[in-house]
Amino acid sequence: MITRETIDNIISAVKIEEVVGDFISLRRRGVNLLGLCPFHNEKTPSFTVSPVKGIYKCFGCGKAGNAVGFIMEHEHLNYPEALRYLAKKYQIEIGEEEQTPEQMQEISEKESLFNLNEFARKYFSSVLFDTEEGKAVGLAYFREREIREDIIKKFQLGFSPGTWNGFAEHAIQEGYKKDLLLKTGLALEKDGKLYDRFHSRVIFPIHSASGRTLGFGGRILTSDKNRPKYVNSPESEIYNKSKTLYGIYFARTAIARTDNCYLVEGYTDVISLHQAGIENVVASSGTSLTADQVRMIQRYTSNITILYDGDPAGIKASFRGIDMVLEQGLNVKIVLFPDNEDPDSFARKNHPAETEKFITGNAVNFISFKTRLLLDETKNDPVKKAGLIKDIVASISLIPDAITRTLFIRECADMMNVPEQILVNELNKIRRNRLNRELQGQGGADDIPVPEMIAPPQPETETDNSSAESQEKEILRLLLLYGTEVVHIDQTDENNDKVKVPVIVADYMVHDIRRDELEFDNKVYAVMFEEYRAGLDMDQVPERSFFLGHEEKEIAYATVDLIFTPYELSENWLKHNVMIDMEEDRLIVRLDYALLSFKARKIDRLLEDLHKKLQSNDSVEDVIMVQTKFRDLKAKSIQIHKKLNRIVIR
Ligand code: UTP
Ligand code: MN
Repeated sequence: MITRETIDNIISAVKIEEVVGDFISLRRRGVNLLGLCPFHNEKTPSFTVSPVKGIYKCFGCGKAGNAVGFIMEHEHLNYPEALRYLAKKYQIEIGEEEQTPEQMQEISEKESLFNLNEFARKYFSSVLFDTEEGKAVGLAYFREREIREDIIKKFQLGFSPGTWNGFAEHAIQEGYKKDLLLKTGLALEKDGKLYDRFHSRVIFPIHSASGRTLGFGGRILTSDKNRPKYVNSPESEIYNKSKTLYGIYFARTAIARTDNCYLVEGYTDVISLHQAGIENVVASSGTSLTADQVRMIQRYTSNITILYDGDPAGIKASFRGIDMVLEQGLNVKIVLFPDNEDPDSFARKNHPAETEKFITGNAVNFISFKTRLLLDETKNDPVKKAGLIKDIVASISLIPDAITRTLFIRECADMMNVPEQILVNELNKIRRNRLNRELQGQGGADDIPVPEMIAPPQPETETDNSSAESQEKEILRLLLLYGTEVVHIDQTDENNDKVKVPVIVADYMVHDIRRDELEFDNKVYAVMFEEYRAGLDMDQVPERSFFLGHEEKEIAYATVDLIFTPYELSENWLKHNVMIDMEEDRLIVRLDYALLSFKARKIDRLLEDLHKKLQSNDSVEDVIMVQTKFRDLKAKSIQIHKKLNRIVIR
């Protein structure tokens, strides 16, 4: 039992921002600090720390508490364990009341696993430094690999002797239960006897982000092909391989500071780079990154740089995994090492400054890297190139940020020497299909056909920019994208002064179209427009989500289609991805252009009809009436076309 006095000492010593700051990079926001919540997956920070109040609260998932609560939650510790953690951090001596045997038993199993691992770590370390075998074999090996002693100590490396049960025996003697030895995997049982897992291997302890020993990796020293190069601790209550990154404890502050995380393959790469002064580095331990590992990195940075040794097959195999990283919103860069070099060997052969220079100088963003690598393979084979386009655009489509997507589309089109439009079309197709799948998943409506069934994607050459369909489409799309927003329109007041009047976009557009009593040819669009009109009559602008979830399936599909169809009206506009926020001025120009085009098209059609009528009519009265109407419309048409021509599209 920790005494009341100690608890008070701990509570008054801790600073919440320091405790939280060990795990998450925090930025100052007024009197508070803000960061990415470690308890749920988020891309924009809503995790708030108040140094003044000594508490944290996440406005995303609702988790909240003080420093002790944070450690309990984050490190999965119970109350006394969390207090011990904080006491250690702030070097407060723990006044502890005698523990009864029952209380001894109450120490959680996890804690005893950690204790045993800690015991083992110290054992391996003392074998390395204090025994003849350790010095002659283990230390000699590290020396041969040019790993400095301070680095050996920092990473708490060790050595397991060549005996069959030296460690297990020692642990049992020291009072550790057999059961724990088996659970941590430090020992194995065969025919009622205990055997050590690690023999004659150098030992790499694997640490949690807070520095506790989760497990071990042991490397063989010979080149015996019959024995595995590495033996690792098995998964246990405290060691989950897919949630662990080797080196994270030593790297996290450097990752937050440099706002970048280097990812390498193995233990030795991490260690050698550290030795070269590059400390923001972790290893995924031979497998591709898992979502949990990405989330772990994301607590400190959203930039990751993957360091590869140059084996194209291996690199290509990892591409799929990287897609997942892109999807999580991280920026991914790639550094390719020269043939037969990995970060470890490179760092050993070169001066630290050169290593650093090589890495920063050769980092390429993942999309360009992938494009270049695959492009080299297509050798201008058109079929392969088509496959490549699909592959690259699929990766780009995963990037959550629209601006980044647009930039990559442009860059890749350049690299592949194909029109940007081809990539844009492919991108929209993928995103549309995905949204459709998501909608299916949500609503439980399993009979949603793909949107193409309503508006089949047209081959480029057939897209008629002046078709009535495309004018109507544009109106609806603007309504869906910007309908609920407010713009400031120039008007003249009673004194003939220019004033800016705020109007809701939907109001502005619907009002304008109704004033001229124009109607939609496309049935679905007509219904959607009617929804806007009815909504506005009740002072409510329907939201996009209303249409996406509309009971009329056709309307829901049309909505998906409208949102993801690129601009058809102007090459210029095409370059500006529809989902990018637009400046108000540009939006107004776009609205006016769409409205005028729509009107011009309708009026010209009316004129055509009247023209036909004029030729076939008999009664003079009728002719005069139609002529008057014709003249009015013609004037209007001229006026609209003039206005249209005046609009400068930026
Ligand atoms: P490497 O073979 O590249 O190992 O495997 P390394 O750490 O760079 O070792 P050196 O340089 O040859 O000494 C990369 C990682 O894959 C895992 C380990 O985590 C290793 O660090 N691995 C590899 C295993 O777990 N078991 C193996 O048998 C091999
Ligand atoms: Mn290696």
